[in-house]
Amino acid sequence: MEFVLYEVKGQIGIITISREKALNALNSTVLEELDKTLDNVDLQEIRCLILTGAGQKSFVAGADIGEMSTLTKAEGEAFGKKGNDVFRRIETFPIPVIAAVNGFALGGGCEISMSCDIRICSENAVFGQPETGLGITPGFGGTQRLARIVGPGMAKQMIYTARNIKADEALRIGLVNAVYPQEELMAAAEKMAAVIAKNAPIAVRNCKKAINDGLEAGMDEALVIEEKLFGDCFETEDQKYGMAFFLDKNKEKVKEPFKNV
Ligand code: CAA
Repeated sequence: MEFVLYEVKGQIGIITISREKALNALNSTVLEELDKTLDNVDLQEIRCLILTGAGQKSFVAGADIGEMSTLTKAEGEAFGKKGNDVFRRIETFPIPVIAAVNGFALGGGCEISMSCDIRICSENAVFGQPETGLGITPGFGGTQRLARIVGPGMAKQMIYTARNIKADEALRIGLVNAVYPQEELMAAAEKMAAVIAKNAPIAVRNCKKAINDGLEAGMDEALVIEEKLFGDCFETEDQKYGMAFFLDKNKEKVKEPFKNV
């Protein structure tokens, strides 16, 4: 692939958007390559993904403004769908995805981070939805996900003013979970991914689905969604082993890795 790298480290997959000359901006090729990269993730082996950008300056500086500049209304809509389809795939991907935001996360960059389950960032990260300054709306889910993550008041302020915010403000409003010095960011992401990867994979996947699907439903329906996914864990080998391990009073025992069955 030209712009997307995929590296496997044990049970963790690391996807790096690598188009440094354009600060990792998302053109059609990057979006297509992201989609293909997801096709290639071995879900038997990989238990958590990390998404980051190449270099020290930018995570993703948005959708490609050069490519968008000459689009017609119909082409603009189709480009929005192209981004939305890939980002929705990330959001609903069976395993957790951590965004390690290593610099600018503007427009489509902020939006792709919001399609991930968890966001952590470096101290130099900058978030924002600058689209109204370019004469457009956020088009890869920003009008929807930002309001759901930080609340409608703050989302509207960020989107209408097109004002960028720094890492400390992103932390304060709950857009990111933690801020690290740049050189510690990937290690922190990998450490978190490793902790997730150690837990029972079927249970982790079901938690992701329960939270995502439940947020889109009313509480009564959401609780039924949870009940089904909770029930679905029973009779798995991992559930039987995890509970038997707890109940075994032998203090010398050592916990074995979960088998994903
Ligand atoms: N699209 C295309 N190219 C981009 C880009 C983008 N979103 N962001 C940066 N680049 C390119 C620049 O054009 C420049 O290319 P050249 O070297 O060929 O001139 C290169 O990356 C380096 O950028 P700068 O020289 O501008 O670097 P800087 O340090 O001075 O500024 C920046 C960094 C503040 C991030 C600035 O590049 C910037 O404002 N970028 C655009 C950010 C933006 O508006 N993003 C939203 C796009 S719209 C969108 O995403 C819509 C949507 O929701 C789908």
